[in-house]
Amino acid sequence: MKRIVVLLSGRGSNLEAIVQRCAEEAWPARVVAALSNRADAAGLAWAAGQGIATQALDHRAHASRDAFDAALAAAIDAHRPDVIVLAGFMRILGDEFVRRYAGRMLNIHPSLLPAFPGLHTHRRAIEAGCQVAGATVHFVTPELDHGPIVAQAVVPVKADDTPESLADRVLAAEHSIYPLAVRWFLDGELHVAGLRVVQTAGAPQSYFFP
Ligand code: GAR
Repeated sequence: MKRIVVLLSGRGSNLEAIVQRCAEEAWPARVVAALSNRADAAGLAWAAGQGIATQALDHRAHASRDAFDAALAAAIDAHRPDVIVLAGFMRILGDEFVRRYAGRMLNIHPSLLPAFPGLHTHRRAIEAGCQVAGATVHFVTPELDHGPIVAQAVVPVKADDTPESLADRVLAAEHSIYPLAVRWFLDGELHVAGLRVVQTAGAPQSYFFP
């Protein structure tokens, strides 16, 4: 049984999507823990309700970024994960932390990377006049919102979109591609060569949600 540890800071809808797909498809894996830098993250309460181990580590209680990263790594390692899944984890992680989990830490970002790393992706996509937006699942590297791209979901930007309406459309697509990407990783179906990732079973890595 493969072990998944999820890091989140908020709502946790991507965690829910992964837990749900894991159950529906009877993956030989389970989410063993949800960890957060925020004790009040809704996703943490949801996970606890599912019987998933949870832990909050307040970054403000640590003297430095390195001290927080070390505490977080210790909490993660206690669960012996095969994969670490960042699902709306809104803390920048230090290089040492990222290197520790190199090749087994995934993130989802609500834009078509390398466009719009960082915050306010939906507002920026609308303001830039983009006709499409989307989400990207990628391996985590020390550079923020960067790293080998596993899968991307594309959605249209509509003329009357607000950042909120676009975010809703992108989020629905996230819930589709993130569980898929996690499963591929656990099944050993991802081959990484530099920044390029190949799904070795031939599954499509780009999805359009019109
Ligand atoms: C998602 O839209 C995810 O792509 C984004 O945070 C949201 C979390 O939602 N992540 C980032 O912006 C990371 N840079 P959730 O808590 O409902 O899964």
